[in-house]
Amino acid sequence: MKFFIDSANIDEIRDAASMGVLDGVTTNPSLVSKEGRNYRELLDEILEVVDGPISAEVVATDKEGILKEGRALAAIHENIVVKIPLIPEGIKALNVLSDEGIKVNVTLCFSPTQALIAAKAGAAYISPFVGRLDDISHDGMDLIEQIVTIYDNYAFDTEVLVASIRHPLHLAQAAEMGADVATIPYSTITKIFKHPLTDSGLERFLSDWKESGQQLI
Ligand code: G3P
Repeated sequence: MKFFIDSANIDEIRDAASMGVLDGVTTNPSLVSKEGRNYRELLDEILEVVDGPISAEVVATDKEGILKEGRALAAIHENIVVKIPLIPEGIKALNVLSDEGIKVNVTLCFSPTQALIAAKAGAAYISPFVGRLDDISHDGMDLIEQIVTIYDNYAFDTEVLVASIRHPLHLAQAAEMGADVATIPYSTITKIFKHPLTDSGLERFLSDWKESGQQLI
């Protein structure tokens, strides 16, 4: 299973990368806007820190505009994956870009049939948003199960990239379901380490060691 970080914050990306388990990065216009930085400079920095797929999203909503922005983003670096919204114009552009050998991450997926059409059009990744479905009282993880089944049934190469992850349980369920990638916000990465028994266990080991009066090195 691949771990991406869902962030445009360079400090978060650096810290996650230093753990040695980071395979890629996803960004979106909202995350980029929060940073208040020049998008191109930010992408260059991210590309220096992480040697893996970096999703950069278009903001055009018509086929020609998406093609123009998508080609420009892809030309920056071979690791750039062009992120395109799941709308009819996006699917038309996806067909062209994938024929040109450009990798596309199709975003804002909320249904199995949306995922099916994206795979048929040649998406490298599909990004179903689990947290936003949970927000409206639909079980987001049910969608992951459906997409994994559909893609397995027809041996699609499109990778299932679980997005809008809000907590470690989403990650555990995604792994159980066999999702290819999880894009994890920094706040959730830090929560993975939090367990009261880990904290109290470590505290006990350290106080016992101190009492023993021994030196390790
Ligand atoms: O990058 C897309 C997705 O992960 C956004 O997550 O938390 O804004 O629903 P969220």
